[in-house]
Amino acid sequence: MCGCNCNNNLDKHDALQQVIDELRNEPGCLMPIMQRAQDIYGYLPEEVMNHIAKELDIPVSDIYGVATFYAQFNLEPKGKYIISVCLGTACYVKGAQLVLDELEKVLGVKAGSTTADGLFTLNATRCLGACGLAPVIMVNDDVYGRLTPEEVAGIIAKYRQ
Ligand code: FES
Repeated sequence: MCGCNCNNNLDKHDALQQVIDELRNEPGCLMPIMQRAQDIYGYLPEEVMNHIAKELDIPVSDIYGVATFYAQFNLEPKGKYIISVCLGTACYVKGAQLVLDELEKVLGVKAGSTTADGLFTLNATRCLGACGLAPVIMVNDDVYGRLTPEEVAGIIAKYRQ
């Protein structure tokens, strides 16, 4: 037992500790440890960052700095379904903002947030590489193109079932 507050889930804690013990002497081990910690927890809870800092004997601000600099790290739990709304140029001129506004209304959260039931995370993104289908959203790996705001509620309802 490490004595910090990260032991509320012992399986995950043990898995994290194993990763730290395995990698701690490797040069540049911080990013791989953080990545594996995120794989284990789904995001980087504060107590996990504190634990990594303690184990590696580095300030927690270093870990926080890396976590906020690199887009692949999440400091908040993500929903089961990640909705990416393209706000790239092609989508924007075809009304992507109206689609995003409707999603915010239907889900009751702002872009960058997760619904209280943990089901959806709503993100605005750059070009998703499907400009011919503008405006485009993705729900996990599912692509929806040529969307109108009127179609949004039906799409969300499908994932709520
Ligand atoms: S601008 Fe939206 S997919 Fe390219």
